Amino acid sequence: MKGIILAGGAGSRLYPVSKIYSKQLTLIYDKPLIYYPLSILMLGGIREILIISNKETIPFYKQLFNDGSHLGLDIKYEVQAAPNGIAEAFIIGSSFIGKDSATLILGDNIFYGYLDFFYNAVKNNEGATIFGYKVNDPERYGIVEFGPDGKALSIEEKPKIPKSPYAVPGLYVYNNDVVSISKNLKPSARGELEITDVNKEYLKRGELRVERIGRGVAWLDTGTPDALLQASTFFGVIEERQGLKVACIEEIAYQRKFISLESFRKVIDEIPKCLYRDYLEKVYDNVKES
Ligand code: DAU
Repeated sequence: MKGIILAGGAGSRLYPVSKIYSKQLTLIYDKPLIYYPLSILMLGGIREILIISNKETIPFYKQLFNDGSHLGLDIKYEVQAAPNGIAEAFIIGSSFIGKDSATLILGDNIFYGYLDFFYNAVKNNEGATIFGYKVNDPERYGIVEFGPDGKALSIEEKPKIPKSPYAVPGLYVYNNDVVSISKNLKPSARGELEITDVNKEYLKRGELRVERIGRGVAWLDTGTPDALLQASTFFGVIEERQGLKVACIEEIAYQRKFISLESFRKVIDEIPKCLYRDYLEKVYDNVKES
């Protein structure tokens, strides 16, 4: 399974910071936003990862993650010349995907809680698995309607009158057909290759599974200044209360056995003295003592 993080886009709702700065680099409490989706892929056991963004921002991601080898990852980078739509990720990423299956996560999507819905999808996917999450403002998202048997009946992108409150989060697990399906898409009325059209094609083929995510999982939006503030507060409260960091990619790399204890030590040694390092030192000491 290959992983793709789509982390481009105009981000114009965050003007003026968007003039100089990509949304996915914004600080969510104590780490850049992109750490959160990256951590989800890592927790799902996905180690070959492609980050797609605009050409101005790619160098910043490279500075953050390099080739990922210090985390036991293999991270590649590709440029999306313009925000031509989410499904373009599979065209840009087609040689990276090769004959494999692929999980796409949007670089501004945050999930927190019990992630079994995702682990199961990565393990058991045939065709496509997407998710449904109940929201208060469904008109802002891709929306899935369920039939009485619990199976998906229809999917619509940002419908004015939503047929259900179930939004489709920006986390999609596909078999290799996603590449050819994306290559055959026509741009929508707003000129984008729509991820919803990919999902509709799988639905038409009878190969779409939509798993409902329960209310115990937080799926957070990060599209506006208010949403960013809420997400920062949310993780600030949780980290402070538990004394554990969320989306700490170095810790995950060690816990998931992507790197040895020796390599974990080296990673920590590279980090300047700061609270983030203090936390990792504590994790390291706990492992040494146990
Ligand atoms: O967040 C989930 C929603 O994401 C889904 O429910 C919708 O079906 C899906 O279309 C998408 O809706 P958004 O309105 O959030 O899409 P947006 O254009 O804001 O793009 C989402 C992220 O992907 C954003 O951080 C920018 C990035 N992006 C987007 C496009 C269209 C790219 O990097 N390249 C692109 O071409």
